[in-house]
Amino acid sequence: MKNILVTGGAGFIGSNFIHYLFSEKSFTGRVVNVDKLTYAGNPENLDGISDRFADRYVFEQADICDRESMAALFERYEIDTVCHFAAESHVDRSIADPDAFIMTNIMGTYGLLETVRRFNASRAIHFHHVSTDEVYGSLGNAGFFTEETPYRPNSPYSASKASSDHLVRAYGETYGLSVTTSNCSNNYGPYQFPEKLIPLIIENALNEKPLPVYGDGRNIRDWLFVADHCRAIYLIMNQGKRGGMYAIGGRCEMENIQVVTAICDLLDEINPCRSGKKRRDLITFVKDRPGHDRRYAIDFSKLHNELGWEPQESFETGIRKTILWYLDHPAWVDRVKSGEYRSWMNQQYGE
Ligand code: NAD
Ligand code: DAU
Repeated sequence: MKNILVTGGAGFIGSNFIHYLFSEKSFTGRVVNVDKLTYAGNPENLDGISDRFADRYVFEQADICDRESMAALFERYEIDTVCHFAAESHVDRSIADPDAFIMTNIMGTYGLLETVRRFNASRAIHFHHVSTDEVYGSLGNAGFFTEETPYRPNSPYSASKASSDHLVRAYGETYGLSVTTSNCSNNYGPYQFPEKLIPLIIENALNEKPLPVYGDGRNIRDWLFVADHCRAIYLIMNQGKRGGMYAIGGRCEMENIQVVTAICDLLDEINPCRSGKKRRDLITFVKDRPGHDRRYAIDFSKLHNELGWEPQESFETGIRKTILWYLDHPAWVDRVKSGEYRSWMNQQYGE
């Protein structure tokens, strides 16, 4: 890991991962962050990094689908490791318009793999693919997703990620590329774009706006604090079995309505409404998401047994840190909520 290319490093998890890398003593290499800066990418997420690590950090604005630009980066920076986050990541957007998902998540990953294959002839390159538990579809009331669970994606987003997972695996098998893949459950924490459930609810609750809960609010997600995910990725990249796939989860199943009420109660404690209102009164049940997966839950025994990983943050501590981060960063929120985001919310809720 001398020269690591992080794709999508200006997004939520990618930027947390870069912060993590520079806090990790065993990492002494250079990071090249390549990001197209879509609505979800924000170079501000890396504030401080370029000053503090000027000789070890570079930002390059480019599209992973642009193969010439990718090849130029591999050449110029002698890339030996790739950690691939760049993707269209929001399920609701994929339902409204799948185009960008097919392009970036499938064609973009394919292009990157081709570039790795080309440069791998002269220097060994490791490719880590960051994927999702959504590729497995939906669980019933019992059971867990593991690395053995058959793929059954239900949304254009998850189908595009499943496709990219298959390409990564196939390039490992066919061309002998050194690859690893991780399939993680729902993340939350600093720098998450406020279209996703947790930051959306925090922001709306702070502004005393309706809190939209899809369907009956009883869909279950397995929540993981983002720093725990970053630590797992770093471990897998360094010590994971080549060709290996690793499921990552928080051992933290919660119904959406439990998540929303937990945020309401914590905000009432930390920052009570001036009007004296209780935030729970803002909860509004809205039309369900089409094809809405009912339950996700991960059994991460493989990662635990092979590499000793387990989450360090509980939901109680993680959600408090997250709420405090959003309270401390109103300017960040205002900026990311301007422009393209506003038109999307208009479309969704007629704001
Ligand atoms: P995000 O939407 O916050 O960030 C995605 C980043 O990719 C943005 O900075 C965006 O500008 C960039 N990007 C998009 N298209 C690009 C392109 N064509 N070329 C270059 N850059 C491009 O997403 P996230 O939540 O940080 O997710 C990162 C990765 O982790 C994704 O691959 C996602 O599937 C996966 N994942 C996310 C979660 C989660 O809960 N958020 C859980 C498991 C896996
Ligand atoms: O499981 C991993 C996945 O988690 C990642 O691969 C995706 O990139 C990430 O976006 C996330 O997908 P979800 O669809 O689970 O996340 P989202 O925050 O959109 O929704 C979480 C749950 O909350 C889901 O059951 C839908 C519900 N929801 C969401 C929104 C935005 C609501 O009830 N109301 C809302 O307004």
